[in-house]
Amino acid sequence: MSQISKDNLEVETRITQFGTSKEYLLKPISLIHESPDRFREICESCSQDQIYKWLFTKRFPEGYGLENAKEFFLWAQDGWKYGTHFVYLLTTQAGEIVGSIDIRSNKDLAESGYWVNSNHAGLATNALSKVAQLASNAGYKTLFAQVESKNTRSIKVLERNGFIRDDKFKVNENCDYAYKKML
Ligand SMILES: CC(C)(COP(=O)(O)OP(=O)(O)OC[C@H]1O[C@@H](n2cnc3c(N)ncnc32)[C@H](O)[C@@H]1OP(=O)(O)O)[C@@H](O)C(=O)NCCC(=O)NCCS
Repeated sequence: MSQISKDNLEVETRITQFGTSKEYLLKPISLIHESPDRFREICESCSQDQIYKWLFTKRFPEGYGLENAKEFFLWAQDGWKYGTHFVYLLTTQAGEIVGSIDIRSNKDLAESGYWVNSNHAGLATNALSKVAQLASNAGYKTLFAQVESKNTRSIKVLERNGFIRDDKFKVNENCDYAYKKML
């Protein structure tokens, strides 16, 4: 497995919301300044029923708090700083954070994960498509994702992007399925 450099990945692009044609930004978190507003926006999204239920119930049984958002932000910024993992945030044109999508390794086989605030639904499919394109250009060979069998919205995002089921990639015992896409 070869190691990927961040050079071709650290770029800002536009993402169109399905059904409205509204434009959002897909930004490496390294290009976003840390501030209490940004932490609050992440916390609000990750506390939403749908996101909390699928991603954080087991990890943060007491609820998702501002400290969790801050920790995520700093972990994500370190990824770009040290070139180990690459988190992009989806923002409105005004800079409000409404989603996240990442590439969790700098090896050419990497896991991807994502969430989108339900008030801004219609971004995940297009954002994953863009991230897969950036990853392919940067030299990644395979992306994979792990998902619970009942998380049909996420499975549809993967299938719309040409991911196919391959449970060989499943390492997280909380997930039922794995999907992969050869780039
Ligand atoms: C799963 C999740 C990321 C989906 O976010 P989203 O932005 O609403 O996703 P989509 O891009 O699919 O957009 C929503 C709808 O727009 C439509 N759509 C969006 N892009 C489209 C495209 N390019 N072509 C056709 N339809 C499209 C779909 O019909 C979709 O509806 P559906 O869910 O009934 O299939 C979001 O619900 C979420 O954050 N869930 C919790 C976290 C989670 O489960 N993460 C994944 C863990 S594996």
